[in-house]
Amino acid sequence: MKLRDCHNVDQFRRLAKRRLPGPIFHYIDGAADDEVTYRRNTEAYEACDLVPDVLAGVEHVDMTVEVMGQKLAMPLFLSPTALQRLFHWRGEFAVGAAAEQFGTLFGISSLATASIEDIAAAITTPKLFQLYFHKDRELTFDMVARCKAAGFDVLALTVDTIVGGNRERDLVTGFTSPPRLTASSLASFARHPRWTWNYLFRESFELSQLKHYIGEGSNLSISVADYFSKMLDQSMSWEDAAEVRERWGGPFCLKGVMSVEDARRAVDMGADAIMISNHGGRQLDGSRAPFDQLKEILDAVGGEIEVICDGGIRRGTHVLKAMALGATACSGGRWYLYALAAAGQAGVEQSLANMKSEIERDMKLMGVRSLAELTPDKLRWR
Ligand code: LAC
Repeated sequence: MKLRDCHNVDQFRRLAKRRLPGPIFHYIDGAADDEVTYRRNTEAYEACDLVPDVLAGVEHVDMTVEVMGQKLAMPLFLSPTALQRLFHWRGEFAVGAAAEQFGTLFGISSLATASIEDIAAAITTPKLFQLYFHKDRELTFDMVARCKAAGFDVLALTVDTIVGGNRERDLVTGFTSPPRLTASSLASFARHPRWTWNYLFRESFELSQLKHYIGEGSNLSISVADYFSKMLDQSMSWEDAAEVRERWGGPFCLKGVMSVEDARRAVDMGADAIMISNHGGRQLDGSRAPFDQLKEILDAVGGEIEVICDGGIRRGTHVLKAMALGATACSGGRWYLYALAAAGQAGVEQSLANMKSEIERDMKLMGVRSLAELTPDKLRWR
């Protein structure tokens, strides 16, 4: 199987599975508990069907959107995801360069493996920084200040990760960051010599934003769930979110809002956007899927705040369905991480190209020339 055989997310996933040592693949691919929410995030899109119009003169379609002041060439962007250098040695630089080629928003995690400053210097596409609110306030606010100084465009505070989710695949494989050498992981690394060579001999792995603050964040192996439970501030409140927003002073988003009440509070605090998200099913299993929850939230706060539908997207039609309900844009993580693991920047570019051409083709098949023409009456619920 080669990059040219990857026409969809599932095929990228299969190639990623071949390229990565098992513990690393399962860290990307896995989710919490029984992974019910993870599966539902994608299945939710099958709860409704599209009703196309025809003879609509669709030679040219416009799929641009504006998200938190940033004009994007497509309505799907790259959610922030951690530890990218474990998936491909060029990590964030490969993903950012691909996002730039396609004119979309690049999300960068607090647990990124490249520094805020180096990313800002290398990548010109709009950049969103995802903030984990650490108990160590100095670290938390240092990241905010560095993003501000480096000219990042958007700050997204993650609010669904007050403790680590129960990722049982990681418990089974013993996945830690950085990877720990155990008898079984060694066997897995030995079966993936290319990955192992890159990991050992390219730039050394680091969690660039955390390395000056905590051993746990740099070279001491720890599971991601333990990291969250130990390092993040479980007392985080709306007042803390307001303080982050104030210190940041730019476009501000809450990532992981699911309830109408919280969406309303996000409007009241002056947030520019919310990402409806359950963290890719990696936190609270049994949580509702973003697409299932989208209408309820848009009915309550649509027009007052930008609403991003995050998670489960595998096809252009999924994006169209969320946009028809009234989402501002869509985002996701695994879909491009599989491609990163499969083939680095070329993989992410191909994955973005696949998504872009699906969205364009599907808009034409739907008989719409712009995303604004995609209205709720183009959907029927089963
Ligand atoms: C995760 C974090 C790091 O889901 O966002 O693993």
